[in-house]
Amino acid sequence: MQVSHHLLLCATPTKALCCPDQALGAASWETLKRLVRELGLEDPTRPGGVVLRNKADCLRICTDGPVLLIWPEGIVYGGVTADRVERIVREHVIGGRAIEAWIVRRYSLQRR
Ligand code: FES
Repeated sequence: MQVSHHLLLCATPTKALCCPDQALGAASWETLKRLVRELGLEDPTRPGGVVLRNKADCLRICTDGPVLLIWPEGIVYGGVTADRVERIVREHVIGGRAIEAWIVRRYSLQRR
């Protein structure tokens, strides 16, 4: 199966470090799940591959939550409310344009 993106959302972390308001994070997670489903991003026949999404307990950012990490770009968005989830999915995941103003960190994978 081909994968286009993997989205990891720290929405309702056990220690609630990045997102003390669990309801805010839960709403972001529900929105992410709904959008991925409704926009057909889980369809295995989707050109470019499927979009995977998981709820993470902590992504080691621990501020500005909810926090969303997107691979393969290695971009971490902060303050990911349900409204922001929608824009990120439409503009970044589907449109291929990162939203610079909301990026709080960037990672890169070392390939061997
Ligand atoms: S608790 Fe959310 S990134 Fe650590």
